[in-house]
Amino acid sequence: MKEQIEAIQNEALAQISAAADERTLDDARVAVLGKKGTLTLVAAGIKDVPKEDKAAVGQLLNAARTVITAALEEKQIALREIADRAALVGIDVTLPARQISVGSLHPLTLIRDEAIRILRRMGFALADGPEIEDEFHCFDALNTPADHPARNEKDTFYFDSGKLLRTHTSSVQIRTMETQTPPIRIICPGSAYRRDEIDATHLSVFSQLEGLYVGENVSLPDLKGTLEYFLRELFGTSTEVRFRPHFFPFTEPSFEIDVKLTVKGEAPKWIEIAGCGMVDPAVFEAINKSRKDNAFDPEKVTGFAFGMGLDRLAMIRWGIKDIRLLIENDARFLKQFA
Ligand code: PHE
Repeated sequence: MKEQIEAIQNEALAQISAAADERTLDDARVAVLGKKGTLTLVAAGIKDVPKEDKAAVGQLLNAARTVITAALEEKQIALREIADRAALVGIDVTLPARQISVGSLHPLTLIRDEAIRILRRMGFALADGPEIEDEFHCFDALNTPADHPARNEKDTFYFDSGKLLRTHTSSVQIRTMETQTPPIRIICPGSAYRRDEIDATHLSVFSQLEGLYVGENVSLPDLKGTLEYFLRELFGTSTEVRFRPHFFPFTEPSFEIDVKLTVKGEAPKWIEIAGCGMVDPAVFEAINKSRKDNAFDPEKVTGFAFGMGLDRLAMIRWGIKDIRLLIENDARFLKQFA
């Protein structure tokens, strides 16, 4: 039996050392250690070995298995190394790796998220509405008569169907009040569209962030305090802000808000960033009519609304001179926000 085991071991070691690839090596393993392998079969015969020899034969078998297994492992490592080296032939591993550039959030996304974060902390919830609107939600319900210049074909993108691309996110105020009752405190970030001449401060597609607060005793100081707090959180406590009386059909009184934009090496200038005001009672009446109830009784509830240009906020925040940089997707510009 001893000779037999030795012969099997020698044969196996010869096969292992001759194996040129992992497949042949595995065949060699199966031939000796597999279920019907030579060594397995001999091991099965141990039951016929006389009792007094069993321990010695067992030891021989174990020793052979250990030697063969070690040889298999060693050969496998050697074969893998050869395969790895072959795979790298012709490749210069000392060349610098091709650069994988990591993307980053767009400045508009950054400013939008930051604005949302501040306003949510103040208790405003996110609301949403469609970009393709009807005249009712974009104009009529917002107390904007048919002859108002904003409804002009020259200013607004109309579809043949009579629908239009919303000229402001104020339509979301209407949609929210149609489905919810006071108190309401919402913000809605989103795109707005106007047939504006494109220049350093105007785009025909831009981003707004609308806000609406309706409840009992909502006052003008609430509006001013909310927006001043918001702008100082966003731009820093030393930010210069001014409220200028203005006209919007859907608010009374109304204001435009300017923030001072400082670009390195240039004289600071005021940039208009938002419109705001106290919701005109005519808007509440239009809502009640559409809802067929009196949930927004102008005698009981008041509200303030604001709509900010997110692009303009980004310009002020980072001192961006030209709004068009925000849509050109020039990697050299965008990289600065990584
Ligand atoms: N909708 C106005 C605009 O786009 C902004 C605004 C919103 C003004 C809410 C007052 C109240 O210019």
